[in-house]
Amino acid sequence: MQLKGKTAVITGAARGLGRACATRFAEEGADLVLLDIGQDLDGVPYPLGSGGQLEHTVDLCRAHGAAVLAVTADVRRSAECETAIGQALDRFGSVQVLVNGAGIAAPSGKAVHEITEDEWDLMIDTDLSGAWRMTKAVSAHMVARNEGSIINVASTAGLVGYRHFAGYVAAKHGLIGLTKAAALDYAPHRVRVNALCPGSVRDDPLVEGRMLAEIARSLDVAVEEHEQIFVQAQPMNRLIEPEDIAGAALWLAGDDSRQVTGSTITVDGGFTAR
Ligand SMILES: NC(=O)c1ccc[n+]([C@@H]2O[C@H](COP(=O)([O-])OP(=O)(O)OC[C@H]3O[C@@H](n4cnc5c(N)ncnc54)[C@H](O)[C@@H]3O)[C@@H](O)[C@H]2O)c1
Repeated sequence: MQLKGKTAVITGAARGLGRACATRFAEEGADLVLLDIGQDLDGVPYPLGSGGQLEHTVDLCRAHGAAVLAVTADVRRSAECETAIGQALDRFGSVQVLVNGAGIAAPSGKAVHEITEDEWDLMIDTDLSGAWRMTKAVSAHMVARNEGSIINVASTAGLVGYRHFAGYVAAKHGLIGLTKAAALDYAPHRVRVNALCPGSVRDDPLVEGRMLAEIARSLDVAVEEHEQIFVQAQPMNRLIEPEDIAGAALWLAGDDSRQVTGSTITVDGGFTAR
């Protein structure tokens, strides 16, 4: 029960890595605030997490005995981020952990000069500014209590480039920059900020993941072909599993990592070690 007594806010919790983190945290005794947009977003060419999927994550966490508050909010909207943290504090009194997992992988699949202003803005607004808004909403509270762990789910795309993914790559590199700067701002107050960089994660039906399929679609290659490329590119010769990411997030959320801040933790089977 590594998170007993802690309240964690997890964004992007309807499915995928957010759901994997939520259920793992629930097993470890956390109280949870599970946030997702719960509807599709204009300009994103694939369905986002639904209200029903968010409810399913809630049910899975409650089955582990967790107290859960579900919040439908868009991390592109400051007021909704502030309201979500307000609701979390009303319900649980304090927040010790924030996992910024909400993100989109597309619109992508274009060379830099082909990206429209709207596509660029949407990507940065969601994958970079969303994490900043949630951090801004919760950090004064964490500073006042002299405790907190903020986990930004970046990507290997925050460390290296990927062809035809400039918006995503720029947003994730920016997220690592935000992580380092925020870590310095809050270190005197024992609020830690770290980035987690997953490699290519298998689309596990249990968490209803679909990012790998969407990336393959953006690149106009078959999912199996895309998986094979990454199995070969990741030196451990396998895709990452959602629970691998949840395990790393658990460590960053808990007290065993109390001296870890401003770090970039890769869970990529050695992909970026080359
Ligand atoms: N799956 C991978 O292979 C992989 C690899 C590296 C990094 N990541 C990162 O991990 C995070 C989670 O990815 P995933 O694979 O679980 O994807 P996913 O699409 O399955 O889940 C993302 C969730 O974020 C939510 N979301 C999107 N925009 C939102 C918004 N504006 N406000 C609130 N919620 C919003 C979606 O509704 C969805 O439920 C993302 O930041 C992604 O970039 C994923």
